Amino acid sequence: MGRYDLALIGFGGVNRALAELISQRGDRLADELGFALRVVAITDLRAGSLVDTDGIDLAPLLAAEPGELSFAGLPGGSADTRNESVIREVPADIVVEATFTNPGDGEPALSHVRWALEAGKHVCTTNKGPVAVAGRELRKLAERHGVSFEFEGSVLSGTPVLRTARRLFGGLEITGVQGIMNGTSNYVLGRLEEGVELPEAIAQAQELGYAEADPTADIEGHDVQLKAVILANEVLGADLRREDVVCEGISRITPRDAQDALGKGLRWKLVGSATRQADGTVTARVAPVALPAHHPLAGISGPGNAVSFHTDLLGTVTVSGPGAGRMETAYALLSDIIAIHQRHHAHDDTAPVRRVLEEAPRG
Ligand code: HSE
Repeated sequence: MGRYDLALIGFGGVNRALAELISQRGDRLADELGFALRVVAITDLRAGSLVDTDGIDLAPLLAAEPGELSFAGLPGGSADTRNESVIREVPADIVVEATFTNPGDGEPALSHVRWALEAGKHVCTTNKGPVAVAGRELRKLAERHGVSFEFEGSVLSGTPVLRTARRLFGGLEITGVQGIMNGTSNYVLGRLEEGVELPEAIAQAQELGYAEADPTADIEGHDVQLKAVILANEVLGADLRREDVVCEGISRITPRDAQDALGKGLRWKLVGSATRQADGTVTARVAPVALPAHHPLAGISGPGNAVSFHTDLLGTVTVSGPGAGRMETAYALLSDIIAIHQRHHAHDDTAPVRRVLEEAPRG
């Protein structure tokens, strides 16, 4: 049986949830998928770096409270230097990037992805930044080095939006994509419909863990703006940047607006869209839209997310599901790892997955 050695860059909620998946379901996954997963490096902004090329024992790390972890005594220097040396030098097969990004330049996640691809390692990331800022460059870099760059979790966490578009829609044309891609703003709009004022609705979204500590990007549409760039570029083959996407959030919508709309059979939704125009160019925007009840996105309530693909042969196909959450996003990483396996090794059962373990007897 093959095995993939992973370097986890960032050990916040998402990569910790992936470690939990590996730790709790590793045997089942190996049985089902035909490969094992082993973590050989972990880096974290606060805790430091931990490297063991024989495989890190995850149990004690998962037993500790997240804030209590410290990998002190291992490679020193700044977080950047530590990350760079771990990403480039530790002999991992796959670098799992789940740190954070500055929406403007995609850093530091963008550099992490570049270093890994340059070192000939597969990469999966949940970060929107590198994909939105440099998706095309990173795909080419991966191709040049014969490895994969996967990023399903950058849009709607583990809900398979990008992979659905890639895998299922060969042979037809996708003419546009439209989605509710931010759970916080969708939850807040629902509360406005109930008469709750915006600041209180945002505070409730924070208490429930939907909103970021600074909810500006959720409410003003900047989070959806990056997701619209990713959909435009990855699904419609455009080459847009964040600045190309006109963006308006939901802060001007009052409880009165939301309730008046409801009375007329309409629901305000924050919609991100990308559309192929008659001249072949692609435009994208983020704006609140009052959708009629029969619209496929109108029924998405609470922190729900959904993306509709408009196609020439199937009409509209809508995928709905969670758009955030630590385990939901960790699942996106697992689906990326499976995609890497299928692309590089599953075509030939005898192909080594770089290192080969003796197959454990099945009980
Ligand atoms: N804060 C985001 C949301 C999740 O509310 O959907 C990550 O993009």
